[in-house]
Amino acid sequence: MPRIIVLIATLCCALDLSAAQREPRHGDDGIVATRSYFASVVGASILRGGGNAVDAAVAAGFALAVTHPSAGNLGGGGFMVIRMADGTAITNDHREKAPAAASRDMYLDDEGEVVEGLSTRSHLAVGVPGTVAGLLDALEKYGTMSRKEVIQPAIVLARNGFVLPRDLALAFERRKDQFARYPASAEVFTNEGEPYTAGELFVQHDLARTLERIRRRGRDGFYKGKTADLLVAEMERGGGLITHQDLEDYMSVWREPLRGTYRGHEIVSMPPPSSGGALLIQMLNMIEPYDVSTMGFGSADTIHLMIEAERRAYADRAEHLGDPDFYPVPMARLTDKDYARSRFEDFDPNKASLSSDIGPGTTPVKESPDTTHMSVIDGEGNAVAYTTTLNLSYGSKIVAAGTGMLLNNEMDDFSSKDNTPNAFGLLGREANAIAPGKRMLSSMTPTIVVKDGEPMLVTGSPGGSTIITTTLQVIVNVIDHDMDVSQAVGAPRFHHQWQPNRIIYEPFGISPDTLTGLRERGHTEWVLMPFGRGIGDANSVMRTGDGLKGASDPRNAGAAVGYTSDRGRRASR
Ligand code: GLY
Repeated sequence: MPRIIVLIATLCCALDLSAAQREPRHGDDGIVATRSYFASVVGASILRGGGNAVDAAVAAGFALAVTHPSAGNLGGGGFMVIRMADGTAITNDHREKAPAAASRDMYLDDEGEVVEGLSTRSHLAVGVPGTVAGLLDALEKYGTMSRKEVIQPAIVLARNGFVLPRDLALAFERRKDQFARYPASAEVFTNEGEPYTAGELFVQHDLARTLERIRRRGRDGFYKGKTADLLVAEMERGGGLITHQDLEDYMSVWREPLRGTYRGHEIVSMPPPSSGGALLIQMLNMIEPYDVSTMGFGSADTIHLMIEAERRAYADRAEHLGDPDFYPVPMARLTDKDYARSRFEDFDPNKASLSSDIGPGTTPVKESPDTTHMSVIDGEGNAVAYTTTLNLSYGSKIVAAGTGMLLNNEMDDFSSKDNTPNAFGLLGREANAIAPGKRMLSSMTPTIVVKDGEPMLVTGSPGGSTIITTTLQVIVNVIDHDMDVSQAVGAPRFHHQWQPNRIIYEPFGISPDTLTGLRERGHTEWVLMPFGRGIGDANSVMRTGDGLKGASDPRNAGAAVGYTSDRGRRASR
């Protein structure tokens, strides 16, 4: 038998793909939607093996570090929103932190100007990674399986390899020159210096060994010992700041979720250091008084309303949001319905506001935006919304030599200088200034929408500053426009973030006469996304009267894989 067939057979046995493959996008007893087919199969296999949604999300999270390396990670951070079937809702913050030696002006030159690239393309760009701590803490507190059971599929994928999908092979080739700057990166992402081609087996031995150390020793297999030694050696080689002490000190934080309501649904989302949940709830509060359903999907009225809500919410983000452990974020007020109404008092249904006139409320935005989001619901009704990131695509592009893992460039999510845009064009000030040990502000918006006490929709997205508006649109599409999850996720999107004052939109997203109507209202700056580059990647799952449905975003090559037990299969006959 050819070697490749043997390896695929081994992998299929190890992960037990059989049931999962028969149930694409539907499951009676669980569903997992991620950016990677392999990771979704891992998650569905864990459900089939008796694991719950947290076990599945953790296993799929480790698998994504192997099969979706642009954003899945061990060297980055993330946010997990968990809602257990008994109604308990909690979030795990494993956002990266600034190293102890970081300082407020570390990216400025002698003239006080931002040095281009320092916060994105250098060892100084790397924040202390949180993913491993967060995934293991989530497993320990809310999972049911052993560390070995949930990490082993990722180890198999790294050690035995997987057949390289076309999109990944092309992405590696496009970044060949960036990887070439770091020998360890070139070693992982090229085939002895030549670009990988689709269909080749992609094996990652160093990454498998790193995963094995985590499997054996838990957090000490990452934050201490050999992995930590290799990471710190990489920092010392490249002038980075992370020390052994930074790694040992890193802890994930359990935080209460932010809660809002929208037309009789409960919104459970991520609090700071993400701005995602706060802005999502604030924007929903602003549009709730309007009859969006009657105004209709894609109408000039609806788009105008949503742009104006976005403009005001992102202005508040720049002023008021940052790490709550360092800055007093006025959260109660930001998510208050009365505050939203007063903030929206100057909304004119016939006229665009000027971003220059919209300051922050008195209590109070170019990149390849590669974060990744997964959504899981299991047969018991436990749900997980999980967004994880290296920040930009493939993070800093630096593989810590000997570990096989890419390091983040999350430090760019801080505000390097007041009112100076980061890679996403986002502005910030004091609330998000750099300080030792502080978490940089995020836009990640993992969200669970609850209806009648049960998780109805689990959603979220990558996309930097566009994450929050993507999540908003998926929710509005389901609740106001009555779309199913595939329609809601597939529908064209637009995005506005206060500054820069422009609207980006997808091809076929806005009809010519709608665009004319919006221009007439004063929305004059429009940027059409090039074909093939959509806004967001909102892998989502939804409970319906006909079981659980999943949607991998059609903009990318992910997968939603369901699980139906034999019991469920018999019942549906
Ligand atoms: N790095 C993107 C975000 O966290 O918003």
